[in-house]
Amino acid sequence: MTASIGSSSSSSTTFRLLLFLVFLLLHGLLIPAVSADCECGYAASIGTGPDAVEHVFTDLIETDFSRLADVAANTDWQRQAFNLSRERARGAYGEMFAVENIAANPRKGSEGEEQEGEEEDAGLRLVVRSDVVNDMVPVAEIDTMRLDVLYGTFRAGLKITDVPGTCSAFFWEIDMEFLSKDFNAANGTFPVNLVLQSRRAAESGFDAQRAGTFVRANLPFDPTLAFHEYRIDFLPGRVLFYADNVVLARMQDDDDDDQTGGHDDGDRSGSGEVAAAAAAADAGPVVPRHAGHLVLQHWSNGNPLWSGGPPAPRGAGGGRDAVTAVAYVKAYFNSSAGRRQEDWRRRCGGDDDPGREKKAAAAAAAVCRIPEVTAANLSAREFFFSAHPRMVPNQTVSRNGGGRWRGGSGGGVVWSAFLFTVLVLVVVQGGEMMFGAW
Ligand SMILES: *[C@@H]1O[C@H](CO)[C@@H](O)[C@H](O)[C@H]1NC(C)=O
Ligand SMILES: *[C@@H]1O[C@H](CO)[C@@H](O)[C@H](O)[C@H]1NC(C)=O
Ligand SMILES: *[C@@H]1O[C@H](CO)[C@@H](O)[C@H](O)[C@H]1NC(C)=O
Ligand SMILES: *[C@@H]1O[C@H](CO)[C@@H](O)[C@H](O)[C@H]1NC(C)=O
Ligand SMILES: *[C@@H]1O[C@H](CO)[C@@H](O)[C@H](O)[C@H]1NC(C)=O
Repeated sequence: MTASIGSSSSSSTTFRLLLFLVFLLLHGLLIPAVSADCECGYAASIGTGPDAVEHVFTDLIETDFSRLADVAANTDWQRQAFNLSRERARGAYGEMFAVENIAANPRKGSEGEEQEGEEEDAGLRLVVRSDVVNDMVPVAEIDTMRLDVLYGTFRAGLKITDVPGTCSAFFWEIDMEFLSKDFNAANGTFPVNLVLQSRRAAESGFDAQRAGTFVRANLPFDPTLAFHEYRIDFLPGRVLFYADNVVLARMQDDDDDDQTGGHDDGDRSGSGEVAAAAAAADAGPVVPRHAGHLVLQHWSNGNPLWSGGPPAPRGAGGGRDAVTAVAYVKAYFNSSAGRRQEDWRRRCGGDDDPGREKKAAAAAAAVCRIPEVTAANLSAREFFFSAHPRMVPNQTVSRNGGGRWRGGSGGGVVWSAFLFTVLVLVVVQGGEMMFGAW
């Protein structure tokens, strides 16, 4: 059928239709189709009790590895492949970082994957193999693509291997390192090494024990039996470490005596370690002030002073590979990129913004609170802002299409263009029929 818009009886109807169309178009252009939630950031309470302070971060990287079927396709993370000689690895063995040592293990029914993996261990598997290859231990590392992470609160759901002789690490440059050889289920000792990698640490060959700013805290649970949430809060001049939302240790730049305050009531066996930390504080700033990225690692180099290992072959049946599983990573952070900071100021106002007052009120409403995982209430583990497209306007979120900036209110323009196209098609193709109905 062809539209016969020429007839006099339908010309006023055409006018009404055009008015309606213009209204829809203006509506779409001037009033954002959706004013998205969380467009002014994500708020976390940092510190404990009366000292807790709310901080807002503008960006996020969230990955639910327990539902990720294809890690290679994820655009937020990159598996690492490189070899370290024995000399570079500073151990009895070199290290072979290879993508084969990183395996997805999604829950049954995720993204249509059939999985024989144990349901309760669903998550990314970081494997250290017991079979040494060319004098190198096969090990695993995966890094965020984003390199502009400057200050933030970083959380990972980890289940640490129970095979002695590896180091499982979650870090920025600020590390939580789990040495499986130090776990002792018989006497309930499960230490975690909290390390502030400073340039000084690098210079002394990453031997943090020598370089200072090191705390060995004792976990109040066996980290090999279940997933727990490990967290690093990185603020200007200050770092806090947590397990299941309980502060394990704090480290800071200033000469505050509270260098290692908090609840590290556990095995501080080295009073020497605390002294070293204090010495580092005296020597100037130790908390990094530059942007970086997040890393998950599982490695071994046979150095008896740190990782120990590698995982020993078990009996005549052959070796037992060590697996540390990652259920999720949730990082809420500020970006060092000028463009990202400028975007935020435009959306939410800054001190130098003329419309500051008005924007500030709207901004407060557009900040979302990060739900906290506690030992008593684990339900927040299952919560991801990124599972709700409305809550991640303009964030990098890995989707099938890849980690593009997801349009926030800018989506209104696209929506209007779509409506316009649909209406034009309706007018052109179905004109006669539609006028009849009107
Ligand atoms: C993060 O960025 C927001 C927005 O610019 C700012 O208000 C906040 O103070 C920043 N936080 C830190 C720790 O720098
Ligand atoms: C690491 O070494 C192994 C064994 O020699 C080799 O097959 C592999 O290609 C090397 N990997 C890289 C990234 O060079
Ligand atoms: C538990 O045993 C380890 C040795 O495996 C030892 O270093 C540690 O001090 C012991 N802890 C306690 C509380 O007895
Ligand atoms: C557990 O936490 C979630 C969100 O983090 C909250 O909605 C829920 O009410 C909490 N449940 C209890 C029993 O406190
Ligand atoms: C979203 O982020 C991109 C990249 O930073 C920027 O070009 C764009 O203007 C932002 N949109 C909004 C609505 O902030």
